[in-house]
Amino acid sequence: MISRVSSLLNRPFMRRFSRDALLALDPEQAHKATLLALKSGMITSDIPQDPLQLNTSIAGIPLSNPVGMAAGFDKNAEVFDALDGLGFGFCEVGTITPNPQTGNSKPRLFRLMAAKGVINRMGFNNLGHDAAYERLNVAREKGAAPVGINIGANKDSEDFVGDYVTGVKKFARIANYLTINISSPNTPGLRGLQAPQLLERLLGETLNERARQAANTPVFLKIAPDLTPDAMDDIAGIITKTDLNGLIVSNTTITRTGVEGLDFADEVGGLSGQPIFETSTIKLAQMRQRVGPDMTIIGVGGVHSTASALAKIEAGANAIQLYTALVFEGLELLDKIKNGLLETIKKKNCTSIEQLVGTKTNNWAQRNLNS
Ligand SMILES: Cc1cc2nc3c(=O)[nH]c(=O)nc-3n(C[C@H](O)[C@H](O)[C@H](O)COP(=O)(O)O)c2cc1C
Repeated sequence: MISRVSSLLNRPFMRRFSRDALLALDPEQAHKATLLALKSGMITSDIPQDPLQLNTSIAGIPLSNPVGMAAGFDKNAEVFDALDGLGFGFCEVGTITPNPQTGNSKPRLFRLMAAKGVINRMGFNNLGHDAAYERLNVAREKGAAPVGINIGANKDSEDFVGDYVTGVKKFARIANYLTINISSPNTPGLRGLQAPQLLERLLGETLNERARQAANTPVFLKIAPDLTPDAMDDIAGIITKTDLNGLIVSNTTITRTGVEGLDFADEVGGLSGQPIFETSTIKLAQMRQRVGPDMTIIGVGGVHSTASALAKIEAGANAIQLYTALVFEGLELLDKIKNGLLETIKKKNCTSIEQLVGTKTNNWAQRNLNS
């Protein structure tokens, strides 16, 4: 029975139907239903191997293609191998905090249909380090696509920095990479860790812990799209003096540019999806200018098409992630983007996606002046 449903769900019409059915549900219920379908194997894909032109790498981690699932979708590391099976080049699980926590009260997830955006104030609802650890450890042995583990701090923690150190200690040896997420707007005080003195301490202590674990797991820092030019200068100045391996630009925004007046636009939380594409891509290019060509940058924020995926890469991203667009476009968006990127590579007479990285950084970085 499941295999019959499975093959049905994989027909384009049914995929579209299931997406429309999911959009009719309460957003958090729809997310739960999708996780359940992925866990039970109801959504699968007979994807061919990725073509060589899409192969790339981030901080030395080989990827079969540059399109990853962003953090927040698989908070408890339950479906990353199913996502691998659908053809994602990598998957970032979390944010995972040391102790389980329930997050903010519901409702806490809102769709802004007309803008194809989402506002969330989930508040790091997750089952904690221990619950995710075993699943992730097993997966490593199975050789799934690279998995990044996104770590955070408990809301009631008296030592945010200590929570990140605990995360590095727990996961440094089993993650393909670690993300230090200090840019969620939904844990009061967390974004304050982006300030220079705290950031220096945070990176000092977490990178020391990585060394203590005798691990050379790449560590990335995930930043907000709301940083001022001065704040970006400070961050770039600090990270280029450390062994940090890269940046993820960006998390959700607390601004409401482009969605003013829409239903739910006044809900508290972080805005994601198409309305943040422009800002997050500009910030990505501006960080690329600041850190130079060698540091890894993962571009995330509003990717919803081949053109927007390509724009992130041209702005300076070595790889991209997406989440919100999958809510509106369905999982088949992944294949569309990968096929579109391949066509673009061929059209431009390139042999690899890597040749397109940063080809329009200056154009994108400049755009801020006009906005
Ligand atoms: C419902 C929801 C939950 C999220 N949870 C997390 C999280 O736990 N940790 C994190 O680093 N980012 C989280 N994000 C942010 C995404 O990873 C991503 O940075 C942001 O949504 C921009 O990408 P998008 O426009 O493709 O969604 C979440 C986003 C959404 C929509």
